[in-house]
Amino acid sequence: MFPLQFISILIFSSLCFSFCSALKEGQTCVADRNCDSGLHCQTCTANGNVRSRCTRIRPLSPIASVRGLPFNQYSWLTTHNSFAMLGARSATGSSLLAPTNQQDSITSQLNNGVRGLMLDMYDFQNDIWLCHSFGGKCYNFTAFQPAVNVLKEVEAFLQANPSEIVTIIIEDYVTSPRGLSKVFDAAGLRKFWFPVSRMPKNGGNWPTVDDMVQKNQRLVVFTSKSAKEASEGIAYQWRYMVENQYGDGGMVGGSCPNRAESPAMNATSRSLVLVNYFPDNPDITQACKHNSAPLINMTKTCYTAAGNRWANFIAVDFYERSDGGGAPEAVDITNGRLVCGCGNIANCKANMTSGVCDAPEAGTVPAPEPAALQSSFAHLDSRPVPSQLLLGITLVTILLQP
Ligand SMILES: *[C@@H]1O[C@H](CO)[C@@H](O)[C@H](O)[C@H]1NC(C)=O
Ligand SMILES: *[C@@H]1O[C@H](CO)[C@@H](O)[C@H](O)[C@H]1NC(C)=O
Ligand SMILES: *[C@@H]1O[C@H](CO)[C@@H](O)[C@H](O)[C@H]1NC(C)=O
Ligand SMILES: *[C@@H]1O[C@H](CO)[C@@H](O)[C@H](O)[C@H]1NC(C)=O
Repeated sequence: MFPLQFISILIFSSLCFSFCSALKEGQTCVADRNCDSGLHCQTCTANGNVRSRCTRIRPLSPIASVRGLPFNQYSWLTTHNSFAMLGARSATGSSLLAPTNQQDSITSQLNNGVRGLMLDMYDFQNDIWLCHSFGGKCYNFTAFQPAVNVLKEVEAFLQANPSEIVTIIIEDYVTSPRGLSKVFDAAGLRKFWFPVSRMPKNGGNWPTVDDMVQKNQRLVVFTSKSAKEASEGIAYQWRYMVENQYGDGGMVGGSCPNRAESPAMNATSRSLVLVNYFPDNPDITQACKHNSAPLINMTKTCYTAAGNRWANFIAVDFYERSDGGGAPEAVDITNGRLVCGCGNIANCKANMTSGVCDAPEAGTVPAPEPAALQSSFAHLDSRPVPSQLLLGITLVTILLQP
């Protein structure tokens, strides 16, 4: 019995190239390709979820369902230390001793719907580098790569996707004169620049996303250095945004304090709200747990702390890790609230902005469908049922034909 079951599992997995490409969120899977697009096959042992399931890696595009709203009325999936990719080598040739926070490239993140990138920039080797360092100084063993490389990835994405808007939030250690301006120019990003002069100064609405797209001002950049707003026209982040505490201090259930550099969360003179939710030390094992129910819980806590304002940016480590809907679901729920007052952006009626919801006010995923092949496949690793054995035998017989 065991070998037969084993063989049928093998056959099922290989046939899944053509058959099982449509498993839904939460269904048991063997590989990413078994799952619907936008889903990954993964376990979340931190939650006791030891069987691989299809989990979300992509939020829904809020501007695909409802356009015409101000930029600050949407929420964007944001990656913390977007450039610090697991398994990356330093472009200096040195081995990297820096922690990593994500699993895929900037291009892959953008293609998955990430629209906020948090990048740490340093002067290094007569250039600007992405580093994950300490003391404001970059070393070979903490240097990932020259910033221009990933900025060129952003440029290519904006070029190829003429109605998308990307926000870059820089943890800025650059002191060389016009260092940031030069690297953005070198990447060809100047043509997409959203000017500081058009950012609301007193908590007003931003221009609409349509207006930003139409004017091709689709790159929003913030720096952590206030002086660069006057000297280089790069917006000082906390003049426009409130942000909660990052790291462990931002993960205490029920509390959403502002980070030291930010005005109070409820400072409505800032139109944008950023919610961080990741620990001091990036933890790929726990990330699936953090990015699930506790993250959604925290977005609600921060909504209250921010004076009933939902997060425009939801920043996490390992955004692809979750036990189900993950950070993409947190963003969808938030967009539902922001865009149409529904429980999930999936329930917003196209182009309606006023609480006209399509479906249940749940903000949850539909229950798995009991479609025959999907469910028999989903239960493959629990109990062998006669129909599976029969199918297995049939397949083996077919395969053994000369
Ligand atoms: C750092 O890397 C550069 C190559 O990018 C190399 O020339 C230099 O010798 C390295 N420095 C140290 C201290 O290893
Ligand atoms: C969820 O938030 C509530 C407060 O709103 C808090 O008391 C609780 O500890 C949080 N739960 C988790 C799992 O974070
Ligand atoms: C804003 O929050 C602070 C606590 O951080 C509180 O003392 C203050 O009353 C709040 N202001 C408003 C207008 O709600
Ligand atoms: C929504 O509005 C856009 C233009 O803003 C239009 O292209 C699209 O067809 C509209 N969709 C529906 C369903 O009305």
